[in-house]
Amino acid sequence: MDKKIRLDKFLADMGLGTRSEVKALVKKGQISVNNAAVRQPELKISPAIDNVCYNGERISYAEFEYYMLNKPAGCVSATEDRMHKTVLDVIQSARKDLFPVGRLDIDTEGLLLLTNDGELAHRLLSPRHHVPKTYYAKIDGLVTSEDCGKFAAGLDIGEKQNTLPAALQVLIAGDVSEITVTITEGKYHQVKRMFEAVGKQVLYLKRLSMGSLSLDKALATGEYRKLTPEEIAELKD
Ligand code: URA
Repeated sequence: MDKKIRLDKFLADMGLGTRSEVKALVKKGQISVNNAAVRQPELKISPAIDNVCYNGERISYAEFEYYMLNKPAGCVSATEDRMHKTVLDVIQSARKDLFPVGRLDIDTEGLLLLTNDGELAHRLLSPRHHVPKTYYAKIDGLVTSEDCGKFAAGLDIGEKQNTLPAALQVLIAGDVSEITVTITEGKYHQVKRMFEAVGKQVLYLKRLSMGSLSLDKALATGEYRKLTPEEIAELKD
C-alpha cells in the first residue's frame, strides 16, 4: 500500500497521542522521517515505506487492527454514548478509528469484533452474506422440540418477512432451559424476539461465534485480545 497520509494522522493512528499532542511532538523535533528530523505535522508520508521514528525508535505501521472482546453486560456496542460505558472504553487501544462490527444489546455478553477495517465489517454485516452467528442463552421455561421446529421453519417477529431458518439446540430442558441458537441475520433484538414469538423470555444471552470466529474460552468477561493472523485470514476468506 502506498497511500500517503499526513504525519500527524499517522502518529495519532499509531497511538502516540491526540492530534494536538502529536503535532507538539513534531514541532519539538522529536519525530524523524527517513532519519531526518521533521517539524511539519502536515508532511505527507507513505506509512508502509517511510521510516518514522519517535526519539530514535521506529514506529511500526499497522493499517488495520482486529480485536476480539468478550463483551460484558452494561456497556453499549457503540463508539460514543453519553449515558453508558462503550465497548471502546473497554479496549485500551490508542487507535481512534476502531468500531464494533455490529451490535450486541447492552445486557448481552460474548463475542464482539472491533476493528478499523471497514471493508471486512461491511462484508460480515451485509444481509446478503448470511454470516452465521451462534448464541448461548438461558430461557425462562421449558424449551421443546416443537420450539426447535418453529425456529427451523422461521418465525413471525413482526417484520415484513418471517425470520430465516435458525438452528435451535436444547442443551438443558427445564424450568430454566439452556440452549444454543444459530441465526444468519442480524435483526434488532432478534434472538429475544424469536423466543418471544414462541412465548418465552431470554434471561441471559451470550454470543459464541460469528462466521469463522469463535470466542476464545480463555477470555473472561470484559477481557479482549488481538486476533491471530490465522483468524484474520479465515474471516477474510
Ligand atoms: N439477539 C438479541 O436479541 N440480542 C443481541 O444482543 C443479539 C442477538
